[in-house]
Amino acid sequence: MSFPIQRPRRLRRTPALRNMVRETELSSGDFILPLFVCPGKGVRTEIQAMPGCHRLSVDETVAECEEALSLGVPSVILFGIPPSKDPEGSGAWKEDGIVQQAVRALKKSVPDLFVITDVCLCEYTDHGHCGKIEKGEVLNDPTLEVLTETAVSHARAGADLIAPSDMMDGRVAAIRQGLDANGFSHLPILSYAAKYASAFYGPFREAADSRPQFGDRRSYQMDPANAREAMREVQLDIEEGADMVMVKPALPCLDIVRRVREAFPVPLAAYQVSGEYSMIAAAARNGWIDRNLVILESLTAIRRAGADLVLTYFAKEAARLLKAG
Ligand code: PBG
Repeated sequence: MSFPIQRPRRLRRTPALRNMVRETELSSGDFILPLFVCPGKGVRTEIQAMPGCHRLSVDETVAECEEALSLGVPSVILFGIPPSKDPEGSGAWKEDGIVQQAVRALKKSVPDLFVITDVCLCEYTDHGHCGKIEKGEVLNDPTLEVLTETAVSHARAGADLIAPSDMMDGRVAAIRQGLDANGFSHLPILSYAAKYASAFYGPFREAADSRPQFGDRRSYQMDPANAREAMREVQLDIEEGADMVMVKPALPCLDIVRRVREAFPVPLAAYQVSGEYSMIAAAARNGWIDRNLVILESLTAIRRAGADLVLTYFAKEAARLLKAG
């Protein structure tokens, strides 16, 4: 008997063979493109820490979404940058708030696009925290009321899926109740269930101008050292009525993605966050890595770990790469 009998390289010899045995396929249909909507008309401002990503006014958001859809990206998630902020974050639930305007415009002009809205207060509060504040503490239960109001206003504007990202306890149940009571029992919830207090959100906070003005988010977002706790968060959110769950960030949490995938039979999303985007963009700009290959490899890794859907700022670019083959 010649050695070795088993030669894994036999299945790697040609592109046809490699295609036949590939276990994970990347598809633009699995991508969700995050967008930052800002006031004005014709506004397209590049975000410094995220070259290639922009704050877009409503009309530019519509144009961006038409392009995304034409590339095969079926879905976007909207973040709002309001014209002004206040301690309550009242811009979040205004009927003519920035996200509400954008949803209405998209439903009218790009009806086939699937529109997700992020429900949180940090983009709308002047202190930059995700909830109401009293004596330097982020209050839980009083925050639930305004999160619910925000979710219902998104539903009224025509959102297809509501995605709470605030990490208050009980918010999925509160939002579920609010939606049901207002005639939206058919509308699903995607909860940011395992959301870590991650330094990888840095560039987003420049984009959304939502940096906390005091303290940090560690009293409500999860400690990156914890994995069991993520399972508990996911379980609670499903019990409260979440239809889909998310793990965030993505590459630093592939173990969590895998564990959630194996333990819970619900659709799972992972968010390749701003810092993940910026690191790849910066290294590629320096010529240190191959941008296209790293984009596809990182997205494949997230899907391989078990995510059904990937929120990624690379959605359009990756769709183009997949089209080109
Ligand atoms: C809002 C929210 C944040 C992100 C998504 N929703 C910021 C935060 O929690 O500080 C981060 C997304 C990214 O970094 O790309 N709470």
